Amino acid sequence: MPTSYYLTTPIYYVNGKPHFGHTYSTVIGDALARYHRLDGRDVCFLTGTDEHGLKMVRTAENEGLTVQQLVDQNSAAFRNAWKALDIQYDEFIRTTEPRHINALNEISSRVYSNGYLYKGTYSGWYCVSCEAYAGEGDQNVNCPECGRSTEFMSEESYFFKLSAFQEKLLNLYRERPDFVVPQARFNEIISFVSSGLKDISYTRTSFQWGVRAEFDPAHVIYVWFDALTSYISGIGYGADPARFQRYWPAHVHIIGKDILRFHAVYWPAFLMAADLEVPYQILSHGWWLAQGEKMSKSRGNFVDPLIFQKLFPVDGLKYFLLREVPVGFDGNFTYEALVHRINSDLANDLGNLVSRSLKMVETYCDGRIPGCGGEDPQLRSQFEKTAEAFHRNFRSYQLHRALESIWEFISAANRYIVTHEPWKLAKDPVQRSQLESVMVNSLEVLRLLALLLRPLLPETSRQIWESLGMDPSLLFISWNQVRWGDLPPGGRIGVIRQLFPRIDKGDFMEKLWQAEAQEPGVTDDRITIEDFGKVELRVGKIVLADRVPRSEKLLKLHVDIGTEKRQVVAGIGKKYSPEQLLGKNVILVANLKPARLMGIESNGMILAATESDLPILATFDEEVTPGAKLK
Ligand code: MSP
Repeated sequence: MPTSYYLTTPIYYVNGKPHFGHTYSTVIGDALARYHRLDGRDVCFLTGTDEHGLKMVRTAENEGLTVQQLVDQNSAAFRNAWKALDIQYDEFIRTTEPRHINALNEISSRVYSNGYLYKGTYSGWYCVSCEAYAGEGDQNVNCPECGRSTEFMSEESYFFKLSAFQEKLLNLYRERPDFVVPQARFNEIISFVSSGLKDISYTRTSFQWGVRAEFDPAHVIYVWFDALTSYISGIGYGADPARFQRYWPAHVHIIGKDILRFHAVYWPAFLMAADLEVPYQILSHGWWLAQGEKMSKSRGNFVDPLIFQKLFPVDGLKYFLLREVPVGFDGNFTYEALVHRINSDLANDLGNLVSRSLKMVETYCDGRIPGCGGEDPQLRSQFEKTAEAFHRNFRSYQLHRALESIWEFISAANRYIVTHEPWKLAKDPVQRSQLESVMVNSLEVLRLLALLLRPLLPETSRQIWESLGMDPSLLFISWNQVRWGDLPPGGRIGVIRQLFPRIDKGDFMEKLWQAEAQEPGVTDDRITIEDFGKVELRVGKIVLADRVPRSEKLLKLHVDIGTEKRQVVAGIGKKYSPEQLLGKNVILVANLKPARLMGIESNGMILAATESDLPILATFDEEVTPGAKLK
C-alpha cells in the first residue's frame, strides 16, 4: 500500500456561496482524509474553486461586479465556510492562480504536441449552467444533465481527439473493476464509452475569461479541462516534480453524480493524451434533494450550511450528512429528519451515555478513574466487532455503516449501564469493586468512542477526550494502537459538558428563520407578501389628458378611481397621444407620496412596460369598475 493518499473534492464554481451539496462532497472528503491520516499515511486533501467560464462572466454582469471581484469574493466565502465547518484540507487551489495557469499551459502543450488537438469549428448547443456542450444539429435541445434550455453557438475551436481513447478507456475499465464507485454508475459510463466517443471542444473563442492557450492565444481553454487540471496543478505539476510524484496519481476524486462523465471519461483520456497516469478511483455520490428536486443555487431551494452552525454544533450537520444516506444514493433533505437525527442519535444515545457515565464517576468515585476493575467480555467483544465493521466500511466508503456500527456500540454500552444499575451498587459498600468495574468499563467505552469518532465527528471526539481528562496528544494515536483496555487508571476526569443539547423543533425553526434573515449571504431581493400588501394598486379610468408644455414625454392625466379623480403626471407621451388615452382603464399605484414633475403635482403612478425605449400601458381586456383593487 503506498504511504501517500491523495484525495480531492470537486473544485466549486464561484458564481455563488457554498451550499449543502458542496458541503456534502467536502465533508465526505474531510472524513476520509482524517481517517487515512490516522492510518499513518501521508495525506493530501485538495479542494478549491473553479473560477473561469461564461457562467462567471454572466453572474458578474448580473451582480454588477467585475468578474475578478465576483470570484475573489466567493472563493473567500468557500474558504471561510470550510474553516467554520472545521474542514482540514491541505491544499486549496484556485483556477485563477498563476501556478494553475502554468500547469494548464504545460499539460495543454503536451497534449498539443502529442497530436491530440486540432482546429475546427464547433456549432451546437451549450448549457451555461453546466458549462457543457449539449449536442449539435438545428433543433434546440435542453441540457441532458440539468434540463435547462441551451444556447446556440458557432465558433472556431480546437478539438480534443477523445475518439482516439475509446479502446484505451475500455481497457482501463476492464483492468480496474472499481475505477468508479458505485458499480451502477460505472456501468453507465462503460455503456456510454462503448457506444462510441466523439471529439470534444478544447478551446473557445467567443469570450475571454479563461486561460489563453499558449499554442494559439486567440483561444481560451474550455473551462472543464481547465478545472480538471486543478487536480494536478494543486500538487505541483509543472513546477515541483517531487511533490507531484509524491501524490500523483490521486487515490480518489470525490464528486457528485452529475459530473461523473467529465471525471471518468474526459479526465483519464486527457491524462493519457499527456502521458500521465490516471487516478486510481472516482467516488460518485448522490444528490441532496429538497421536495424531490436537486438542491441548487439556480433553483433557489438550497440550504445554507453555515446557518446551522449558529444553531447547533457543526458535528450535528456532519453526522446528518454522513449518516442519513449511503454515499452513492440521493437523499431528501427535511428539517424534521435533521432534528430527529440530532435529538435521537446525538443528544439521546451518545450525549446521555457520555454525561451519565461521567456524572456517575464524579458522584461515586470523586471524579477519579478507578484504579482497577474487571473488564466486561461482552462489551469488549462488541467493541471488537464494531472496530472491524468500522474499518471495513470506511475503506469501502460506506460511511453511514461506519457510523451505524459505532451506534451499535453506544447502544450496547447504554444497555450495559442499565443492566448493571450502578446507582444501586453505589448504595452498598460491599459491592464497591463491582461499582468500580462498571465505571471503568463505561469510561473505557467513552475513550474508544472518542477514538472511533475522530474522522467523522472530530469536535465531539475532542470534547469527549477532554471530559475524560486524557492527555490531548494521545488522541492522535494511529488506528493500530486503538484497542480495548488502555484506559489509564487514577486520572481526574475533566469538565462535564452537554455535547448536544436537545432541539425543540418549533424553537429551532424560529431561530433558523431569524438566522436566515440576518445572514447577508442568503437574503435576496424578493419581498414578502406583507411587503407587497403595502402597495395599493387600483383600476383607474383616464378621463382627461393633456400634454405638459415643453415636454415630449410627460402627459397630465386625470384618473377616476371611483372615490376621487387623481391628477397624475405620466411619462408616456412619446408613445401615446392624449386622445388615444381617453377612456382607457389603467393600473394606478394609488398610495405613492405626491411628487412634482415640471412643476405639476402628481398623485400616483401608472404602470407600463418599456419596449425599445417606448412605454406600453398595462390595461385590461374587459371593462373594470374604476377604483377596483388589484391583489
Ligand atoms: N466546477 C465544477 C466541478 C469541477 S471539478 C474539476 C462543478 N462545480 S459545482 O459547484 O457546480 O458542484 C460541485 C459539486 O457539488 C459537484 O460534485 C456536485 O455534484 C455537488 N453538488 C451540487 N449540488 C448538489 C446537491 N444538491 N447534492 C449533492 N451534491 C451536489 O460542478
